[in-house]
Amino acid sequence: MSVIKIHDKSFETYLSAETIQQRVSEIAAAINTDYKGRRPLFIAILNGSFMFASDLFKHLDIEAELCFIKLASYKGMKSSGNVVTSIGLEDDLFDKEVIIVEDIVDTGKTLHKFLPKLLHQQPQSLKIATLLHKTDATEYPLTLDYVGFTIPNKFVVGYGLDYDGLGRNLKEIYQLV
Ligand code: IMP
Repeated sequence: MSVIKIHDKSFETYLSAETIQQRVSEIAAAINTDYKGRRPLFIAILNGSFMFASDLFKHLDIEAELCFIKLASYKGMKSSGNVVTSIGLEDDLFDKEVIIVEDIVDTGKTLHKFLPKLLHQQPQSLKIATLLHKTDATEYPLTLDYVGFTIPNKFVVGYGLDYDGLGRNLKEIYQLV
């Protein structure tokens, strides 16, 4: 186990790069099966989901579209949950098969607040794929269709996730010591 320091905090290895890659390929395989013959539009939520979305996309063998949008600002170690606005959502979602790609569902507030905006556009279907889910922290009702890992309510960094702007480049996921 390796310990790293980011800003003022120490983090220890929690999920190895191999473990993450294996799970991402399993999720992609499930999506390949579920969406065979269909053409989903993946909406990946920036910034945290960029690595997950990229790796997931590499494993897809179905036709699929991808767009990135920005929703909320998230500062420090507590989820603010303040959804500001969605930037970059240009596609008309009417009749589309949408799959939201999220890095982590914590309280669930971000997605819970955002989903009605998407549903308003009447997509044919709407599913959620999240790499991580802090089940004990989730306060808002959400149906998560594809979950990479269920994790305890501890702050994590790496593989796209940051602590005050740093740590997104790490291939592994680290947990606060
Ligand atoms: P929620 O609205 O509480 O579900 O928070 C979702 C967002 O908070 C995620 O997309 C992340 O950007 C951020 N977040 C929540 N927990 C963590 C964490 O442990 N590490 C880094 N970012 C987190």
